[in-house]
Amino acid sequence: MKIGIDKIGFYAPHMYVDMVKLAEARGDDPLKYTKGIGQDEMAVTPITQDTVTMAANAAHQLIDDKDREQIDYVIFGTETGIDHSKSAAIYVSRLLGLKKQVRAVETKQACYGTTAAIQLAKGYIALNPESKVLILASDIARYGLATPGEVTQGSGAVAILLSQDPRIMTLEKETTFQTEDSMDFWRPIYSDVAFVDGKYSNDRYIDFFADLWGEYKEKTKRDFADFAALCFHLPYTRMGEKALKPHLENVAESVANQLTERYKTSTTYNRLVGNIYTGSLYLSLLSLIENDDNLAAGDRIGMFSYGSGSVGEFFTGILEEGYQDHLNTANHKALLANRKEVTIKEYEAEFLKELPTDGSTVEYSGDNDPADIYLAGITEHMRQYKNK
Ligand code: COA
Repeated sequence: MKIGIDKIGFYAPHMYVDMVKLAEARGDDPLKYTKGIGQDEMAVTPITQDTVTMAANAAHQLIDDKDREQIDYVIFGTETGIDHSKSAAIYVSRLLGLKKQVRAVETKQACYGTTAAIQLAKGYIALNPESKVLILASDIARYGLATPGEVTQGSGAVAILLSQDPRIMTLEKETTFQTEDSMDFWRPIYSDVAFVDGKYSNDRYIDFFADLWGEYKEKTKRDFADFAALCFHLPYTRMGEKALKPHLENVAESVANQLTERYKTSTTYNRLVGNIYTGSLYLSLLSLIENDDNLAAGDRIGMFSYGSGSVGEFFTGILEEGYQDHLNTANHKALLANRKEVTIKEYEAEFLKELPTDGSTVEYSGDNDPADIYLAGITEHMRQYKNK
């Protein structure tokens, strides 16, 4: 049975900062941000968006009534959820009008959470072929103003519908995965910004790719020539390149050039949105398949997932006949093109806004947020969501 991605969409907030201006404000050389890190713009999250609303906005234009009938499992991958107990998947299920006969849960393992969700869903569909699983990846990456990690912030969500006989990409059986306890990035329960040993996290990422790619090659006897493209988890767009480049040194020039060129394409949306943590790999896949006109049905795409802490996985998919007809490329490009640039001062003010934690009531208007689904306020510690 073929199991894989039947539909895929994303959402990013309507505001962004220009990375050249951020570099200037921080007294850094802009080339460090745009070339060294590889980011041009960074999403700024308004107070009216959180991980729930972003996921709901990514999913609600994706699914139709037939999907509503068949979705019986919603898995929400996040490392910046809104509640230690209740799963964000429940709020989204309601906002999307899903039926009651749904399992709704959250998965967490840093930026690997959504890959865990996909692997769980794959097994579930193998046992329940008529079911569809809605997978949500939504995060707000926060390191703090004027920190080394600031340039690798961002926010956004990806929604994926996994089913049998998928129309976009079939996931193949062979994968390699591993877990190793590392303190490269973590966020204690009491902190709203991540703690990170940046250089060590880069090294862990690079080592995990080397291990998992090596094991995959060994296990399957496949090599780079068997791949049309490789997509990476992208905390910033230079990261995947740093992991891939050393492995391309002794590879046929045509193969290395194609993978390098397509790697660039796979960073298209990520360069404009920034880090969306657990959705970053899937935003990279979308960047590739919506912006490369030369890919074709039958092409194999490799996917490298890395979640600090650390868990990693290398897995693959095969593009389906006519996959281009099932993408929402025009909508995604319009979403990005219609965003509004904000000044560094406005971004900082937005970054410092907080929801009350004392049980008091606050209400937000949706007038300044073009998204359909938004956070309309909070009362007695309960977030109030509205769908325009
Ligand atoms: N022009 C061009 N490139 C420049 C430059 C300039 N003027 N100044 C610096 N650079 C390059 C550096 O050479 C480096 O590239 P390299 O790694 O290929 O050598 C890159 O820009 C980053 O510079 P660096 O000095 O290493 O940045 P930093 O110390 O500020 O930290 C991170 C960068 C990514 C470690 C930091 O942003 C961070 O901690 N981010 C969060 C963690 C993360 O994203 N981890 C990823 C794995 S999950």
